[in-house]
Amino acid sequence: MSFVVVNVLSVPEGRGDVLEQRFSGRAGSVEKAPGFERFELLRPVEGTGDYLVYTRWRSREDFEAWTASQAFERGHAQASGRPAADGPAATGSTIWSFEVAQATDPA
Ligand code: HEM
Repeated sequence: MSFVVVNVLSVPEGRGDVLEQRFSGRAGSVEKAPGFERFELLRPVEGTGDYLVYTRWRSREDFEAWTASQAFERGHAQASGRPAADGPAATGSTIWSFEVAQATDPA
């Protein structure tokens, strides 16, 4: 069963557009990482102001290999190496990880 890692991003009010623009210009290198299955940027609607970066992997090892890779570094060039002129869009980050216990697709 797959391994899911969610990065929970605290984004100050009014900064969601900036965050989404950064993701629109994302490196797109995660797609090529071995064992990568899915990415979703989830915009908060109700109950929280946090954005979720949802990723799904074939295994925990595949996720860990991606975080140690240059592809991860490239994917975060704006977030860390080259700070945007108007500062970071996210002010906090928490990582949650899960094993998929059960799943289904439409019948
Ligand atoms: C350590 C704190 C982290 C922060 C603040 C952060 C924030 C960001 C931001 C702002 C971007 C947009 C691109 C950019 O601005 O460079 C990005 C890209 C991305 N982040 Fe993170 N991130 C972090 C760690 C992680 C982790 C642990 C994951 C795993 C779920 C993750 C998943 C992704 C993915 C999949 C992309 C797109 C990369 C691509 O297109 O190749 N991030 N992140």
